Amino acid sequence: MLLEFPEILTNEQVAECRQALEHADWVDGRVTAGYQSAMVKHNMQLPEDHPAARRIGETILDSLQRNNLFMSAALPLKVFPPLLNRYEGGHAFGAHVDNAIRQVNGAAFRVRSDLSATLFFTNPEEYDGGELLVEDTYGVHQVKLPAGHMVLYPSSSLHQVRPVTRGARIASFFWIQSMVRDDGQRTLLFDLDTAIQRLREDLRDHPAALQLTGVYHNLLRRWAET
Ligand code: NI
Repeated sequence: MLLEFPEILTNEQVAECRQALEHADWVDGRVTAGYQSAMVKHNMQLPEDHPAARRIGETILDSLQRNNLFMSAALPLKVFPPLLNRYEGGHAFGAHVDNAIRQVNGAAFRVRSDLSATLFFTNPEEYDGGELLVEDTYGVHQVKLPAGHMVLYPSSSLHQVRPVTRGARIASFFWIQSMVRDDGQRTLLFDLDTAIQRLREDLRDHPAALQLTGVYHNLLRRWAET
């Protein structure tokens, strides 16, 4: 499942974050790449422990926790602290699959990447190229969103970032370990949850809504790891 989330950050939050990034020291993006992806990764990143990266990461996580659509779609168990990257002057990231396991710097725990997220900090008209291409069984999806918007897709999918040929593309990227590892099961739960909410809007106290809510929680109980 590939999902877009509008306005995870407000325009004011985006502007604040971009200001903090203006004088940041970017490093070669290969610092977090695995062996295979290092060969196709050409971009810049903020070091994981950079104060601006930490502050922006906290702003993003804070907003996601309050976003019902995200919570329902991702069923997050652990989130890797958001990182920031910058593509300009022909930078690109060729086709790759994200590493399965991520060690959080300086922390004792690891995150299994079930879902990958990209949150855009620059608007589409500020740069040429830089589309995120994600392959799934239905073909290739092309994603280039307004600043403050986010896309979520299975980490298991082959994806790439097209070369940026004008301007700069700044984004945050991170991984989520879901309580429900399997993308198919997670998608079923999300569809069921969405349908129940629509049913409740139209037929507030219909007993079937209660029954379906029971089904939702009993499936979650069956499939979730906590
Ligand atoms: Ni990737």
